[in-house]
Amino acid sequence: MNGVSRVLKLVSHKYVIWTLLTVPVVWLAYNQKFNQPSPGAFFYWTGVLSGLFAIASLAITPITRTFKSMPGRNWLIRQRRYLGLSAFGYVIAHTAWWAYKAPMQRIMSSFWDPVLTIAWVNLVIYLALALTSNDWSVRKMGPNWKKLQSWTYFGTFLGLLHWFWAMSFPVNDTVLYGGLFILLMLYRVVQRRSSVAGS
Ligand code: HEM
Repeated sequence: MNGVSRVLKLVSHKYVIWTLLTVPVVWLAYNQKFNQPSPGAFFYWTGVLSGLFAIASLAITPITRTFKSMPGRNWLIRQRRYLGLSAFGYVIAHTAWWAYKAPMQRIMSSFWDPVLTIAWVNLVIYLALALTSNDWSVRKMGPNWKKLQSWTYFGTFLGLLHWFWAMSFPVNDTVLYGGLFILLMLYRVVQRRSSVAGS
């Protein structure tokens, strides 16, 4: 067994993976309480990490289909679900922090504020995806499960749009992460077209 396989075997255990994916939020909470960073640090980073986990989860299929003989390919495919669930977990932390701090009036008015309306829709989509991410739902829902999963793209699009909009479209983040998302969408469109043409 080579070094890469050994490391992957160790981080294949679901408790190890969950621990690794939870470390950032635990550290952010600790940092917020004891290091007095800017008051919005926890809120900002949980939002950003949710967006990054979502992009990472969407990137796994294109990467593993393009590099068919890469080491750790099967391991990477198995991590897609964990990354997707982490995107949901971090957005819950982001929303909960805000809901805890914000006055009730602001929460009520958020439904009519476009930057936040799209965030709420994003949350509902992620909730549906997270609730049906288990093996039982895959079996029960049959072909509808795949249809529901394709909503990941729209949910992530809304999440990213909300992020960029809330921060007045920062050039670096918008170009880098928005660009990555567009590439992933293009890959999906090309794949779909070639599978329709091939059938
Ligand atoms: C994947 C989904 C999401 C991502 C990537 C994300 C990311 C972000 C980021 C990076 C910011 C800027 C934070 C700052 O200015 O320090 C932000 C702002 C904000 N987010 Fe989210 N967010 C998401 C979903 C949500 C959801 C579901 C809610 C709850 C409804 C929410 C509520 C807010 C609020 C209230 C703001 C501040 C907006 C303002 O100042 O006008 N976000 N979000």
